[in-house]
Amino acid sequence: MKVLIVFYSMYGHIYKMAEAMAEGVRSVAGAEAVLRRVPETLPADVLQKMGAVEAQKAFAHIPVCTVDELPAAEAIIFGTPTRFGNMCGQMRQFLDATGQLWAKGALVGKVGSVFASSATQHGGQESTILSFHITLLHQGMIVVGLPYTFAGQMRTDEITGGSPYGASTIAGAKGERTPTANELDAARFQGKHVAAIAAKLAK
Ligand SMILES: Cc1cc2nc3c(=O)[nH]c(=O)nc-3n(C[C@H](O)[C@H](O)[C@H](O)COP(=O)(O)O)c2cc1C
Repeated sequence: MKVLIVFYSMYGHIYKMAEAMAEGVRSVAGAEAVLRRVPETLPADVLQKMGAVEAQKAFAHIPVCTVDELPAAEAIIFGTPTRFGNMCGQMRQFLDATGQLWAKGALVGKVGSVFASSATQHGGQESTILSFHITLLHQGMIVVGLPYTFAGQMRTDEITGGSPYGASTIAGAKGERTPTANELDAARFQGKHVAAIAAKLAK
């Protein structure tokens, strides 16, 4: 049973969360986690100015996803940094290339789930995930979030990402914060949760 984890990351926060998500998927017997990046759409000089070139080398080994890979997965987990409270343009462009899949109903009945990151605590993680869900619902996917049985999202003793809508991490204004143990636990939990539901549906 294949669980595709499709992400975009500019500075590596979403990539770290994606790796944790994959660990969670692999903890379910028979579940294979496949990590993929969506294609970069920004010109090289813009990426240079944004300070992304060095950071992106850390996950350059992850193969770039094509939309043709999506129908072969039982579940797809999408990871995106917040851009003005929404998913990033790279992910939007990737999804906008799935019209053929929509026309064929190729993703109908598959599990879909989303995780996010933002610079600030209230910078739009929830709106990013919830607005992403609209696309998944148009594709006929079964939307899965992060249930409160992940107790880490009840924490108030430290600042943390994570909501019932999905795991998330706060990157900091300059990207100086790396995903915390609690945020990575949330990603592992969500990966496991998605894979377990996909396994039940596959039976
Ligand atoms: C054009 C642009 C828009 C952004 N919009 C937001 C925003 O609305 N809220 C926020 O908290 N962070 C915002 N950010 C910060 C990114 O979300 C942050 O850099 C990202 O989550 C880090 O994840 P990554 O390392 O995987 O790229 C924005 C960044 C850029 C470049």
